[in-house]
Amino acid sequence: MARQVKETRSGGTKGIILAAGDGKRMQSDKPKVLHEAGGLPLLDWVLRAFRQAGISEIVCVVGSGADTIRAQYQDLQFAYQAERLGSGHAVMQALPQLAGPGYTFIAAGDMPLLRGSTIDAMVRQARTQGIDCVLLTAELEDPTGYGRIIRGDDGNVEMIVEHRDASGEQQRVREVNASSYCIRTELLAELLPKLKPDNAQGEYYLTDIVRLINDWGGTVGTYTAPWEECLGVNDRVQLAEASHLLYSRTANSCMRLGATLIDPAATYIDPDTTIGRDTVIYPGVFLEKGCVIGERVTLYPGSRISASKIGSGTEVQNSVLLEAEVGEESRIGPYAYLRPQAQVGSHCRIGDFVELKNCRIGDGTKVSHLTYIGDADFGKDINVGCGVVVVNYDGHDKFRSTVNDGAFIGCNSNLVSPVEIGQDAYIAAGTTITEDVPADVLAIGRSRQTIIEDWDDKRKNK
Ligand code: UD1
Ligand code: CA
Repeated sequence: MARQVKETRSGGTKGIILAAGDGKRMQSDKPKVLHEAGGLPLLDWVLRAFRQAGISEIVCVVGSGADTIRAQYQDLQFAYQAERLGSGHAVMQALPQLAGPGYTFIAAGDMPLLRGSTIDAMVRQARTQGIDCVLLTAELEDPTGYGRIIRGDDGNVEMIVEHRDASGEQQRVREVNASSYCIRTELLAELLPKLKPDNAQGEYYLTDIVRLINDWGGTVGTYTAPWEECLGVNDRVQLAEASHLLYSRTANSCMRLGATLIDPAATYIDPDTTIGRDTVIYPGVFLEKGCVIGERVTLYPGSRISASKIGSGTEVQNSVLLEAEVGEESRIGPYAYLRPQAQVGSHCRIGDFVELKNCRIGDGTKVSHLTYIGDADFGKDINVGCGVVVVNYDGHDKFRSTVNDGAFIGCNSNLVSPVEIGQDAYIAAGTTITEDVPADVLAIGRSRQTIIEDWDDKRKNK
């Protein structure tokens, strides 16, 4: 069944993503396609669009920063372009891995707004109409820097002229090449060797393939997409523009599914986030790396929540949660820090300046202020006073402690791990616990208070 669906879509079509360019205009040590927009590297967005369109056999052409890209995408197939001789030369490097009948879909790795549905539509257009090449184009308000689509009197595309090579009249054309092409693979293989670097940059331009197809007697069609899908990221200004557009796409889909975003333009939600109905998100909240947020959750301003799960009805204020989990109807923050493997139950209170790491906090437990809990299992309905520290590290090894249900840990206590506190036990304020405490007892470990009479008089008379 899945297979059939795939074949009626872009199935059988192969993909090439161009990512070998130097990305000079980024002024960066990092390869351009690894820069993030809307919460994902540019290359991820393009890959997702290909896969959504059912294209699974994809070769990514890398050159500049190749090792860094390969390391981050270990499942991907790569071709190496040793020298940056242009986008046409880049495609040549990938072609041997994709030979065969059917179409090849080529996109630049720097166009993160390209949608899977657009790729799919272009491939369908090429296949159903038997066209040799379908180009993605857009009408831009300001086409500066883009290749222009030059049409003949009959309306057919004659060629693409790069901005730098264009005459004054050609530069006035506002229809641009978006750098996505669906081309019949066998024709591509036949014509690529005919590209010549006779242009302003001395490069083998992929865009010249259009003229070559026309000369050969083939057919070239266009598919027009909304301008933003064609946005190419060449510098940091365009990166910010793309990022803004991608975040707003994700925000819009969250709102359509029932989340309230008080100011969507100031809310940063990664694409793999799930948000339940009637959840309210204030400005300045970041939801990163696939969070699962329940229903009726309130995320007040200024939180960074990454790869975390938050149950329904919970409130979070000005806090950082990384790979953490919180149950239902709990209150977190302001200024709580939940580090990886912090698991907080339902109806809990984790207050200001509380840090949790690799620990379980049972339902109904309250850790209200200024506390560190690391490597520990806390049961249900425990009250943790202000300034409690689980001393989990002796400078060499980490140890784990357990606190059983209903215990009361007084303010400013230390639990020197490993220790176990029994059910309903009390720890007096200021106690340092170094041994297990049985259930129901009071453990007190501090020196008795001493009173020295007439202290003030003695000092002043001296
Ligand atoms: C390119 C198009 C231009 C189009 C624009 C849309 C060419 C010649 N021009 O221009 O018509 O309007 O995109 O954004 O293609 N690359 C390589 N190896 C190379 C050179 C480039 O892999 O030797 C890759 C780059 O990594 C990039 C893509 O090809 O992903 C396009 O190169 P880029 O330099 O960004 O071309 P533009 O000037 O943007
Ligand atoms: Ca570009």
